[in-house]
Amino acid sequence: MTAGGISRTNARPGHAAARRWWEMGVVYQIYPRSFQDSDSDGVGDLEGIRQRLDYVASLGIDAIWLSPIFPSPMADFGYDVADFCDIDKLFGSLDDFDALLAEAHGRGLKLLLDFVPNHSSTEHPWFIESRASRRSPKRDWYFWRDGAPGGGPPNNWTSDMGGPAWEYDPATGQYYLHTFLKEQADLNWRNPDVRAAMTDVLRFWFDRGVDGFRIDVLWHCIKAEDLRDNPLNPAYMPEQGEKFRVLQQHSANQPEIHEIAHAFRALADGYGERLLVGEICLPVDQLMAYYGSADTPGVHLPFNFQLFEAPWDAALIAHIIEAYEAALPDGGWPNWVLGSHDAPRIAGRLGEPQARVAAMLLLTLRGTPTLYQGDELGIGRVPISPDRIRDPQDLRQPGLGLGRDGARTPMAWDDGANAGFSDAEPWLPLHPDWQSRNVAAQDADAASMLTLYRHLLALRRGHEALSIGAFRLHASSPDVLQYARREGDEQFVIALNFSTAPREITLPPGIERGVLVLSTHGRTIFDGSLQPDEGVILRVEAG
Ligand code: GLC
Ligand code: MG
Repeated sequence: MTAGGISRTNARPGHAAARRWWEMGVVYQIYPRSFQDSDSDGVGDLEGIRQRLDYVASLGIDAIWLSPIFPSPMADFGYDVADFCDIDKLFGSLDDFDALLAEAHGRGLKLLLDFVPNHSSTEHPWFIESRASRRSPKRDWYFWRDGAPGGGPPNNWTSDMGGPAWEYDPATGQYYLHTFLKEQADLNWRNPDVRAAMTDVLRFWFDRGVDGFRIDVLWHCIKAEDLRDNPLNPAYMPEQGEKFRVLQQHSANQPEIHEIAHAFRALADGYGERLLVGEICLPVDQLMAYYGSADTPGVHLPFNFQLFEAPWDAALIAHIIEAYEAALPDGGWPNWVLGSHDAPRIAGRLGEPQARVAAMLLLTLRGTPTLYQGDELGIGRVPISPDRIRDPQDLRQPGLGLGRDGARTPMAWDDGANAGFSDAEPWLPLHPDWQSRNVAAQDADAASMLTLYRHLLALRRGHEALSIGAFRLHASSPDVLQYARREGDEQFVIALNFSTAPREITLPPGIERGVLVLSTHGRTIFDGSLQPDEGVILRVEAG
């Protein structure tokens, strides 16, 4: 196998050897349906991803995380898994997977899969067997309960996708639990056979050589044993979606989850340096528990989603960073996420100028960044006409603006038919400005978002101060988020102007001179002031 792109083993100076790869690394999320189609069905696939590996490697990222590629009826686009140990035909075969993994490894890239332990598809053989009879040996693999004494579902839990979290099954006269769609039945993690079967799933992929997993909705995986009612949410507003009708006090984040996370970790550690990332949407104090303790470590990286939830305000983001850093347990490694297949596009939310600032923030913060495909092109809001809506969350709760399709539209590679994504009509429409906002056009443009991302990723790769270096906030001027990163003798100051007005900045005490290394505006000389919406990285020069 030829190694394309950047040599990852030699590019890091200094302390790199003592660090685990993912501490200095950058994760790039690929949404397989929308990356590259190779068989003209309008849906991306594994062979398509393989064909685009040169691009992925050229970005200067370290690991790819693939959203689910397993056999699935696609009610929730792969998060409804019907076989945890195979590949959906839509995406290819196990051979295609092995080829992709080998080529990724050949380029020095790690590959993470999505592990979906909380639920299976109702078409999974386990559920089919469980559903068949009240006496099925697999009955207890899922949650089957009689209706409430007065009729209706067993408790008041609501589905994150709208409506009650219980579906009545006339065949056996009981309800089953589904935290998400009724096509996604929750597995019972109190049942040891479920644990054993799902542990085998992890082994299956680890044995095949995958470098780790992103674990779907980890905090949901175990429920209060008695499934008691959740408290009503006094602040509930219907426009938030039904999931907020109750507080998920008994349906999620139970103490026993940490023992499960630790079991995953122990298994992963047995395979050498593998990475576990947990999807956990909880306030920071509760999130931290997912790191576990020194004796019983949990996942390596409990995803930190604060950047895409917080209002875009310099003082507020400064506070978030400080509070997060302060809350980290000993040995807990930070991480930051700016976009995903579930959240509105960052450039759609902030506009391109501030999306550039956000990119600089993400890639100069301490900790592992996760990038979402297409954000490096600055894809913005994509209007989806009602007849093209595919996201079940949107279809079930129309008009609430909860639709996730806008973040799942295809990558744009060039200005040819269907942006080079497919020979056929793509499953979701392209962004409106794809003819200019595509990889080929942006590669030819020194001022493009993609070029900015490439510079940022190269700088981070070349300077440990920017990835693992110490972080220190320095309040400078209103609307400016300013901080220093330091490792050994090397120090950088990052100053980000969140406003549309120019701002003067002052360097942190003891720093006299900063030489401009990168500006989101492409400037090469720094005169002490930031232009509107400008972010800069300055290298601190002694004396
Ligand atoms: C996670 C996924 C999301 C999915 C849900 C249910 O939040 O990111 O896309 O719908 O879990 O599996
Ligand atoms: Mg295809």
